[in-house]
Amino acid sequence: MGNKITLTVIKADIGGFVGHSSVHPRLLAKAGECLAASDLLVDFHVTHVGDDINLCMTHRRGVDDDKIHKLAWETFLSCTEVSKELKLYGAGQDLLSDAFSGNIKGMGPGVAEMEFEERKSEPVIIFMADKTEPGAWNLPLYKMFADPFNTIGLVIDPKMHAGFAFEVHDLIENKKVLFNLPEELYDLLIFIGAPGRYCIKSVYSRTTGEIAATSSTQRLNLMAGRYVGKDDPVCIVRCQSGLPAVGEALEPFATPHLVAGWMRGSHHGPLMPVSVAQSNPTRFDGPPRVVALGFQLANGKLVGPQDFFADPSYDEARRKANKLADYLRQLGPFEPHRLPLDEMEYTTMPDVMAKLKDRFVDVNGDLESDVAATRE
Ligand code: F6R
Ligand code: MG
Ligand code: MG
Repeated sequence: MGNKITLTVIKADIGGFVGHSSVHPRLLAKAGECLAASDLLVDFHVTHVGDDINLCMTHRRGVDDDKIHKLAWETFLSCTEVSKELKLYGAGQDLLSDAFSGNIKGMGPGVAEMEFEERKSEPVIIFMADKTEPGAWNLPLYKMFADPFNTIGLVIDPKMHAGFAFEVHDLIENKKVLFNLPEELYDLLIFIGAPGRYCIKSVYSRTTGEIAATSSTQRLNLMAGRYVGKDDPVCIVRCQSGLPAVGEALEPFATPHLVAGWMRGSHHGPLMPVSVAQSNPTRFDGPPRVVALGFQLANGKLVGPQDFFADPSYDEARRKANKLADYLRQLGPFEPHRLPLDEMEYTTMPDVMAKLKDRFVDVNGDLESDVAATRE
């Protein structure tokens, strides 16, 4: 406890309206009722990106608190009842277990949370994405905290010049490592350039040692021979006074980068920055979207939000994303639009392989009888 505040964002898809495109207003209202009824929180804001409900909460209980996680879990359960009544698509889909086990991590919903001493003025941005994976934050976090072409503060702000430390998780081996930038820049990049496996979990100021950013990156679960649970991440970034300015934190999204996700979680597509009102992925269930909500924290109160990507200065980024989407869609089922075989969320490969297994012959063998059999 003490003067520290904890900002916790927990998200889940517990039913889409319509299909996987958005959240029904009644679910958002229900989530708000559930959080308002709790005396655990200092403040909260309920929102959505695409088909994911995001619970943004402040409290004084620290990270990984079982009561806060249980509150989110029970809120999603109550929303699922409404979702079932309306027969929304995939009702309750992200609640992977029947019973809450003390920590919501690994149970389906995504979690990003950080505890810190609230500064004299505490601007934060909550980034939320739909139809993509946690590695989608690697490139923008790198630009915000390590690229002087994005963040001039790294060069000219004495409180940033010492650089930032990046905590990177290996989501498959379940290991983590800390890189000190700028001196370990090249070592960092060899890992985070592979965002399907290595993800930036948190970033720390090397001037103050304080946490500056954290994401909902979590271990992938191996299920039926495939890694799952990498959907639709959130990320919290603290700004100003020795941390990236709000504009430096938003700048990476002016150039849409390609991320994994989109239709059936099996395609690369551009991450399009949008307002909450525009965050309903429709074209080929996409393209993937990112929303950025800004808040000023005032004794734990979430003053806001400011819906940053509603700004017309992101119109060009949206146009560029649409052009990239047009181009990639022309590739249809071919890589690099479609993901490589081992990264697709859906596949028929084992069934097709099983059906054809007797028809595969050694490359030095012959297919003459097969060719003959194709003749009318
Ligand atoms: C991607 C996503 C959608 C669905 C697609 C098929 O993350 O959620 O693109 O994968 O709409 O959904 P099902 O298999 O439920 O028909
Ligand atoms: Mg969905
Ligand atoms: Mg989603």
